[in-house]
Amino acid sequence: MATIAIVGLQWGDEGKGKVTDYFSEHVDCVVRYQGGNNAGHTVVIGDKKYKFHLIPSGAIRGKKVVIGNGVVVNPKILLEEIDMLKSNGIDVDLMISDRAHVIMPYHIKMDGIEEERLGKKKIGTTKRGIGPCYSDKIARMGVRIGDIIDEKKLKKRLDNLFQIKKPIFETYGIKINKDEIIKEYILYGKKISPYVGDTIYYLNSIIDEKNVLFEGAQGFLLDIDYGTYPYVTSSNPVVGGISTGAGISPKKIDKIVGVLKAYSTRVGMGAMPTEDKGKIGEYLAKKGNEFGTTTGRRRRCGWLDMVAAKYAAMVNGIDKIAITKLDVLDGLEKVKVCTGYEYDGKFYDRFPSSPDILERVKPIYEEFDGWDGVAGKKKYEDLPIKARNYIDFISEKLNAGIAMVSTGAKREDTIIIQSD
Ligand code: IMP
Repeated sequence: MATIAIVGLQWGDEGKGKVTDYFSEHVDCVVRYQGGNNAGHTVVIGDKKYKFHLIPSGAIRGKKVVIGNGVVVNPKILLEEIDMLKSNGIDVDLMISDRAHVIMPYHIKMDGIEEERLGKKKIGTTKRGIGPCYSDKIARMGVRIGDIIDEKKLKKRLDNLFQIKKPIFETYGIKINKDEIIKEYILYGKKISPYVGDTIYYLNSIIDEKNVLFEGAQGFLLDIDYGTYPYVTSSNPVVGGISTGAGISPKKIDKIVGVLKAYSTRVGMGAMPTEDKGKIGEYLAKKGNEFGTTTGRRRRCGWLDMVAAKYAAMVNGIDKIAITKLDVLDGLEKVKVCTGYEYDGKFYDRFPSSPDILERVKPIYEEFDGWDGVAGKKKYEDLPIKARNYIDFISEKLNAGIAMVSTGAKREDTIIIQSD
């Protein structure tokens, strides 16, 4: 039996939903270990588009799905997704950790206010309350799923918390009605309670006997530790996040697949060395339909950044690569790839930790001849040779084999190269 981790190697939106959907066919259980409803996975089956923010997309294949302790949960959104699946004839087999933290109404308000106050320096968050919820978790002032399924416990918890938080709410100008929150969240808790369990014991009881997939949300460059801090999310999308966010030993991860979009995109603020504010950026956004699943914002676009990808591949220790959206590059005369940075007369082949340097670096590009005819291809041999050169280049630079290439949005527009 085997475990597989799917992690994004860029700034999220790499197309992990489709990759996860493919690999989840062969597993028994799909697990989320970090993030919250800031994520957006789209899976297209036939004419139907399924959008997930919280529940692992393996649910549409009828798999057991688990929301681990490292996830922050907006219970309202969770219940809406359960209902969405039900209305599509899918009775979700879900287990959610009693240790997962709960996004409270004040977290969402604080996220909005903090962004507003930062003005031009804002992070460009999804305003889903992710940062404030994780802040409370680390400050030991959080509310957990285990608290909202027990009215007495929730009342006691909020009474305690509000003693500390009252002045903070006043400073923020947030009006909070504690009794209303309790009423609302106890109702959510009642509805959620059949799904709540100790996911840590559950996952460890099946990990040696079943096939389990860990589905990362966001991407490595948004990781709170490794990403472009402070323009990052508040969790650990890195593969190591599986250990802390799902309670699984690193020894138990058999295969790590890094998902890499054939070009770069980023939503929100922060450095993006290959961002193209001209024609190419516009072309990629339009052709790649680069608008957020969660917020609808247009993504910033540019050429593939191999400095960033190599950094991501190194820290995640990837075994295989899934290249997505290769079809979007169809029809271009030239395709460029950034293989180094230059700043202040210095050459960088490493991803700088300083946001100031990263803001200022100039990408150094290698140029490839363009191609046409990738869209919809189902076999590697049918790909244009120039597109194959591009794939081989990525594989060589990242020192990992290619597991799959996505050639369109639909499930069947996929080339499987090394499925083992
Ligand atoms: P937050 O996660 O809402 O706090 O937002 C922090 C940063 O992460 C912002 O730049 C967001 O645009 C970005 N972000 C959060 N979730 C995603 C995602 O699923 N895809 C891409 N960017 C994301």
